[in-house]
Amino acid sequence: MAKILIGFMGAGKSTIARLLDENYVDMDAILTERIGMTISEYFSKEGEDSFRALESELLEELLETDKVVSSGGGIVKNERNRELLSQNQETIYLEADFDTLYKRISNDKENKRPLFITNSRSDFKAIFEERKVWYEDSCTRKIDVTSKLPEEIVKEIQGI
Ligand code: S3P
Repeated sequence: MAKILIGFMGAGKSTIARLLDENYVDMDAILTERIGMTISEYFSKEGEDSFRALESELLEELLETDKVVSSGGGIVKNERNRELLSQNQETIYLEADFDTLYKRISNDKENKRPLFITNSRSDFKAIFEERKVWYEDSCTRKIDVTSKLPEEIVKEIQGI
């Protein structure tokens, strides 16, 4: 069974996945390789729906493995993905408040998320609010990561 980390952009999915298993799989990294451009470029060239279709296809592939997976924050937009994630044995939701996430995303100069670039703060917050219930519906376990160090989060996941 795959161990899948879900949560909004900036929640630390990749950082935690790497600490859990150095051979973790980062969905955005695989998709970036498959599309041959950045996700932002792909969004403007082919549209978000096209990206979502590739993302769903990849999720189905990864659910068949026993990997630790860092998913993209928008994976829960698709109803079928939510269903698959909730049926998976270990789907862990890394939950944090909006202000914390917004600060982290703003400070991330290496990863310019398309939805962050193209939305005002209030529209971005509306996306966050809409998705919260979807993360809840999709997860089998939830961890509040707002004011915790990565090492503490990993210990909590591992039950240490
Ligand atoms: C997205 C989150 C990104 C990436 C894409 C869309 C989203 O992943 O998949 O930019 O819709 O929330 P991260 O959550 O890893 O930033």
